[in-house]
Amino acid sequence: MAFCLLVFLILTSIGRENVVAHGSFTSLTCNFPAIFNFGDSNSDTGGGSAAFCAVPPPNGETFFGKPSGRFCDGRLIIDFIVEHLGLPYLSAYLDAVGADFRNAYDVNFSTFVSCSENISAFKDNLPKPEDFSKALYTFDIGQNDLTYGFQHTTEDQVNASIPDMLDHFSTALQLLYKEGARAFWIHNTGPIGCLPYSVIYYPSKSGNVDQNGCVNPQNEVAQAFNHQLKERLTWLTTQLPHSVLTYVDLYSAKYALISDAKRQGFVNPLKFCCGSYYGHHVDCGKRVTINGTVYGNPCTNPSAHISWDGIHYSQAANKWIANNIISGSLSNPPVAINQSCYINENLV
Ligand SMILES: *[C@@H]1O[C@H](CO)[C@@H](O)[C@H](O)[C@H]1NC(C)=O
Ligand SMILES: *[C@@H]1O[C@H](CO)[C@@H](O)[C@H](O)[C@H]1NC(C)=O
Ligand SMILES: *[C@@H]1O[C@H](CO)[C@@H](O)[C@H](O)[C@H]1NC(C)=O
Ligand SMILES: *[C@@H]1O[C@H](CO)[C@@H](O)[C@H](O)[C@H]1NC(C)=O
Ligand SMILES: *[C@@H]1O[C@H](CO)[C@@H](O)[C@H](O)[C@H]1NC(C)=O
Repeated sequence: MAFCLLVFLILTSIGRENVVAHGSFTSLTCNFPAIFNFGDSNSDTGGGSAAFCAVPPPNGETFFGKPSGRFCDGRLIIDFIVEHLGLPYLSAYLDAVGADFRNAYDVNFSTFVSCSENISAFKDNLPKPEDFSKALYTFDIGQNDLTYGFQHTTEDQVNASIPDMLDHFSTALQLLYKEGARAFWIHNTGPIGCLPYSVIYYPSKSGNVDQNGCVNPQNEVAQAFNHQLKERLTWLTTQLPHSVLTYVDLYSAKYALISDAKRQGFVNPLKFCCGSYYGHHVDCGKRVTINGTVYGNPCTNPSAHISWDGIHYSQAANKWIANNIISGSLSNPPVAINQSCYINENLV
């Protein structure tokens, strides 16, 4: 099963940890010089656009004013994280390495050249080697692996394949550690059964949806994935002694928002703004007229929707979710993201 990772990075001036005095004690605030993000389209800030086809409008309409490589009307959770840390928005790794990008992946990109974006070279912005060990490594994984499984195998088979997915994840994380990575911020996977796309395509079986209309079996498998991910991270902590591994319960943040949609100012969480899956499948950004009816028109109030396109969350939802995770209240260990760096004991 494919373990799909896209890589994004950002850069800023070289940072050092600041020691901030608070009365009688001191606390250390991390000053990450860079963030490297690994994830699927939930945190893609342009990798897909750089490698494959550009994300079309109206993606980006709320914030960037044009498509920004994100499957969203505006900012993603990772964008709110970098804002919080005072860093610039992430650009796609493939953009950053410019013309050399074909060496980056074991994929034959020639196939996609006809629709590839303008790959600009700004190699000067690549991180300095000494920044790699001070950077924050963020992960937002699981959804593609599980949904691929739901589409091609049974729920039991998907559940049974979780250890294999996590083997790949552990190996990747250990390789990064070997290269000097120390601080890891790992989002668990969301309530996949609450995606409008899942609900629409799930063959209805009685008793299989919860009070929010979410598909129970899919959410159960997502929770099984998260349970095992958390165990893996506990194990990895013992294997990688000079690291900080923070498990972030994004599932609970997303599910809390979906359960409380109305009070939080959102419409029915199973509605979505852009594209259409009812009657005719029309991707967000396309329109189809059939017998005088136009399918795929985007809504006029994206910020009232939790789901942007039936699969990806809206900027308004991403902002709410980000606000609920940066403080560390949904993390294990319960550390705020701006405190989640690895402190070299020799320097303290
Ligand atoms: C990559 O794909 C292109 C187009 O299909 C093909 O012409 C080329 O030989 C392929 N290159 C490799 C190394 O497989
Ligand atoms: C490609 O990028 C270069 C450098 O940023 C820019 O000058 C040029 O106009 C871009 N071309 C297209 C087709 O977007
Ligand atoms: C998934 O598998 C685990 C054991 O690997 C089991 O404990 C759990 O109940 C299963 N969950 C579902 C939803 O099938
Ligand atoms: C369009 O309407 C006609 C007449 O009602 C019907 O036969 C046809 O199947 C419709 N086409 C589609 C694509 O729904
Ligand atoms: C660190 O983040 C917390 C919120 O989690 C915030 O209250 C605090 O001001 C931040 N510290 C710095 C130095 O930015």
